[in-house]
Amino acid sequence: MKLIITAGPTREFIDPVRFISNRSSGKMGYSIADEAVSRGYEVILISGPVNILPPPKVNLIEVIDAESMFKAVKENIIYCDVLVMAAAVCDWKPIKKFKNKLKKNGKGLTLKLVPTKDILSELKNKKEKKIFIGFAAETENIIENAKKKLIEKNLDMIVANDVLSPDSGFEVDTNRAWLIFSNGVIKDLGLLSKKMLAREILTSIEILYLKKQTVF
Ligand code: CTP
Repeated sequence: MKLIITAGPTREFIDPVRFISNRSSGKMGYSIADEAVSRGYEVILISGPVNILPPPKVNLIEVIDAESMFKAVKENIIYCDVLVMAAAVCDWKPIKKFKNKLKKNGKGLTLKLVPTKDILSELKNKKEKKIFIGFAAETENIIENAKKKLIEKNLDMIVANDVLSPDSGFEVDTNRAWLIFSNGVIKDLGLLSKKMLAREILTSIEILYLKKQTVF
């Protein structure tokens, strides 16, 4: 099995020194990459800026913004069986990046933000027999919101996680997660380490992959 795993945040630049981003540390995506490599799979890890070392033996592609992450996924998707979008891609970017550092002038600053490309939605038509896995970072109505994303983005499975509790979501080593499958099955995994969650995710991917291989 060949996997593309995305991880970490993206940065959307305002000027050469400032950007908007989010709290993603990359730990979840890197744990999945680690687990996939240890099971003997080929991994392309497409990562936003993070402070962790990549697992040995992955093919690491470092990107900065949503547009470059989209480009890297699009270019590599044809070589892969599985796409795991664990990255926290910024949903908006400044309408333009200023060439020079903006000077503070004692006044406020209004930024106009425009949407970035939704990578999973953009690649829907390249899915074919591939397995697409998404994450849903939620602060309320977790299952309901995640189910909506699963359908809208045409995913095989979505990992819904609570990003509001202090022991779950961004930066920490644990996650409260549910695996939601396109056939309606929901697996409540409770609180577990990102390493254990990575194992659960990989095992589910293996089952989904085997099922797709045997459907004619
Ligand atoms: N995603 C993506 N491209 C984006 C934004 C998100 O491919 N521009 C992917 C994420 O990697 C994740 C899934 O879509 O696998 C859901 O991301 P999430 O941030 O939970 O939701 P959004 O679709 O961005 O919607 P919202 O922010 O409104 O909850």
